[in-house]
Amino acid sequence: MKVRITGKIKNIISRDRKVISAIAREPYPLVVAKGSGDHVWDIAGNKFIDFTTFISVYNFGVNGNAEIRRVVKNQVDKLMHPAFLDFYSEAPVKLAEGIISMMPHGFGKVFFSNSGTEAIEDAIKISKLATKKSYIMAFYNAFHGRTIGSLGLTSTKISNREHIGPFPNVVHAMYPNVYRSKYDDPEEESKACIEHIEKNILAKEYSPKEVAAIFIEPVQGEGGYVIPPKSFVRELRRITSENNILLVSDEIQSGYMRTGKFLALDNFGVTADIYTMAKSLGGGMPIAATITKSALGDPQLGAHGGTFGGNLVSVAAATASLNYLKRNKKALEKMVREKNKIIMKRLNQIKTRYEIVGDVRGLGLMTAAEFVKSKKTKEPGVKEREEVIGECFNNGLLLLGCGTSTIRIIPPITVSKENLEKGLDIFEDAIKLVNSRH
Ligand SMILES: Cc1ncc(COP(=O)(O)O)c(C=O)c1O
Repeated sequence: MKVRITGKIKNIISRDRKVISAIAREPYPLVVAKGSGDHVWDIAGNKFIDFTTFISVYNFGVNGNAEIRRVVKNQVDKLMHPAFLDFYSEAPVKLAEGIISMMPHGFGKVFFSNSGTEAIEDAIKISKLATKKSYIMAFYNAFHGRTIGSLGLTSTKISNREHIGPFPNVVHAMYPNVYRSKYDDPEEESKACIEHIEKNILAKEYSPKEVAAIFIEPVQGEGGYVIPPKSFVRELRRITSENNILLVSDEIQSGYMRTGKFLALDNFGVTADIYTMAKSLGGGMPIAATITKSALGDPQLGAHGGTFGGNLVSVAAATASLNYLKRNKKALEKMVREKNKIIMKRLNQIKTRYEIVGDVRGLGLMTAAEFVKSKKTKEPGVKEREEVIGECFNNGLLLLGCGTSTIRIIPPITVSKENLEKGLDIFEDAIKLVNSRH
C-alpha cells in the first residue's frame, strides 16, 4: 500500500501553517478523520496501523472503547462542567476513590486537572508546601511539561526552554543511560549517577535541607524511552527517604498499564510520595490527576485550583476506562507481557541485521529503537530515524520519534497480534530500505 496525499490534505496543511500557532509537527502529512481499535483513517481514506496511541493517550485502543464513548455521550446530555472548584459533585469523588483503590497503601488525596503539565504544577506546589523547602531536582532529558513550572524541570530540548527562563530553584541531575554510558556495566552507570547526586549536588551545591522533591519519570519518555537500572531508582528512594525529600513519579506517559503495571514505578519495587497521571487516564478525554500520600495532608486552601478540573465528561470517560482496566487487569498484564516478547524478539533481530539500529529496549509496551550512523561510533542517526518514520507512514504505519534519534513503538495494549506483526513487518521493511541507502 502507498498512502495517497491528496490536494485536500495539502490544502489543510497549508491553511494550518498559516493560522495554528507554535506547533512543530513535521514527521508526515497525516490529516486524521477517524480511528478505531488498532487503526486510524485520514481524510483521503488512507488506513494506518497505529503504533503511537496518539501520544500515549489510547492505551486501550484508538478512540477508546464502546463503553467510554457511550458514557461520554450520556454525560454530555446531563451536565458537562460542574464547577468542581466551588460546587460538589459525586462523579469526580467516585473517580478519585477508584484511583486511590489502585494505589499503594497510604495514598489518600487526588487533585484533578486537565493536562499532564497541570498535574506537575500541582505536584511542585504540594512538594514545596509539605516540606517547606524550595528546590526541586529533576533529570537531564526529562520531560514534565511546557508550562513555566513544569518546564523548569523539563530538559529534553533547548528549543523548549530558550528565551523562556530563568527557571529558579531547579537543579538537574544525570539520568542513567545504559546504551550511551561510558561504563560497560549498567550498575556502574547507576552508581556514578547516584554518587554525583550525593557527593556533588546534595553535598556541595544544594543542601538536602532545601530540596523539596526529586521528580522522576520511571522510564524517560520524550527523552528517548530510556530505562534506568533498578538500582538507580531504589537508591533515589533511599536518598529521598533519608533526607526528608519527596519522590515524585511522573507516570503521565509510562503509567496506566503501559509497562504492564498500573504504576510504572512498581517495576522497580519502589513507592513514591506523589504520582502524576494524565494522557491515557481519560481514555481520550483531557484529564489529569496528582495523587498524594495521606501523610502529606492537604495543601493550604486556595494554593491551587482550576476552573475545569473535574469536568464531568472527562470524569465519565476516565471512570469507564478505569472500570475496564480493573475488570481486565490480569488480561491486560498478560497482553503487555506477550506483546513485549513479540516486539523485543523482532527488535533484537532488527538490531543484529541493520547497521543503523544501535539499540533496542523496552519495558512492557514502552518499546523503542535508537538509530545511529554506525554501531561503532553511535553517532545519532537523526536523518535515518526521520526517513524510517516517513517510509512507514507511506506504507500505512504511524510512528513517533522521541529523544535525539529514537522511534517509540507504543501500540494500543489491546492491539491484535496480527496487526502487531503487520506493523513490525512495515517497520523492518522501512529500516531495510533506509539502511541500504547508507
Ligand atoms: C512524562 C510526561 N510528563 C508530562 C507531560 C506533559 O503532559 P501534557 O502534554 O498533557 O501537558 C508529558 C507529555 O508528553 C509527559 O510525557
